[in-house]
Amino acid sequence: MTRTSGIGKESSVVNTLSARRRHPLAAFVVLFLALGLIGATYATLGSAKAKAASSAAATPEQLAEGQKLFQSACSSCHGLQAQGVQGSGPSLIGVGAAAVDFQVGTGRMPAMQIGPQVQAKPPVYTQEQIDAMAAYISSLGAGPDVPAADVYTPDLSDQGSVANGGVLFRSNCSQCHNIVGAGGALTDGKFAPPLRQTSEKHIYEAMLTGPQNMPIFGNSVMSPQNKRDIIAYLMHSRTEAGSPGGLDLGSIGPVSEGLFVWTIVLGLLIVIACWIGAHTTKASRARVAHFEATTGKDATNNE
Ligand code: HEC
Ligand code: HEC
Repeated sequence: MTRTSGIGKESSVVNTLSARRRHPLAAFVVLFLALGLIGATYATLGSAKAKAASSAAATPEQLAEGQKLFQSACSSCHGLQAQGVQGSGPSLIGVGAAAVDFQVGTGRMPAMQIGPQVQAKPPVYTQEQIDAMAAYISSLGAGPDVPAADVYTPDLSDQGSVANGGVLFRSNCSQCHNIVGAGGALTDGKFAPPLRQTSEKHIYEAMLTGPQNMPIFGNSVMSPQNKRDIIAYLMHSRTEAGSPGGLDLGSIGPVSEGLFVWTIVLGLLIVIACWIGAHTTKASRARVAHFEATTGKDATNNE
């Protein structure tokens, strides 16, 4: 009797607690929704911009702008006419707009110092400036063009495309970039970078231009469709569905994955342990009570 009122009190306390808890939770939900919205908007705007950039034809103003930028930022290593400077930088005549877009777009160029391998870093130039330099370089000698969005954007809903891309990736790329594009070390302090962050366009351009000691996968060696399939495979492997070992937890890294294991899995184990504990005592108590009631004997007496 006193028990019931006790439980009533407890549950009213729980109710007030859960009512209070609603506020911070609601704030989190709103925050997540807002972040999602920003992400989606950014993605749409970004791809729209990329489309506009690759379809624009070079104008005389763009060429002049590209030449000016090139002469101030790149000619010290590549020469005033992009003819190359012995010991500083290779000739860029004939490397094509795609090479410039890749090298400057991934922040490799302008190189800061000469090491075993020029590192990727946040890009220094806007896409407009990169387009101008790319147009200028390609005006000096024909080379692979920056691909249009429909050339490098894969159809992710096509499972055949993803599967074919996986086969192609394993036979052409994984010896350097590792099985799921996780990257790997090469000789002489060089390395094949991980491909988890690289945009579709830059992956396509890397294949077209073969930076450093990566081979060139020109269209006669590997068709545009096959390149797109490889991109489909890489994009797919970034999503949960592409993780062969089960959930990849978003591939955001060991810290967050460790945290997941600590909080969720350990928490679950504790809950299971408590559940087992509570249930076995309860169950055995009930059994003992039943035994004593029906037989009239003391259950602790083993005779
Ligand atoms: C400090 C010297 C240096 C500067 C400055 C520099 N580069 Fe380079 N660049 C290099 C070197 C060295 C390589 C060879 C890259 C490698 O082997 O990793 C290279 C490679 C390249 C390539 C690839 C060529 C190919 O065969 O695919 C392009 C394109 C390029 N640079 C463009 C530029 C542009 C555009 C700028 C100016 C925004 C620039 N570079 C500034 C040193 C430089
Ligand atoms: C012989 C080894 C080798 C092979 C094979 C190879 N790559 Fe590479 N790849 C490299 C190296 C080295 C770099 C770094 C170049 C640099 O930093 O200038 C690179 C860079 C890249 C990048 C740029 C990554 C970034 O974020 O900047 C992409 C994308 C890429 N490779 C894709 C591929 C694909 C796709 C294939 C297969 C079709 C492939 N690679 C095959 C060695 C290789």
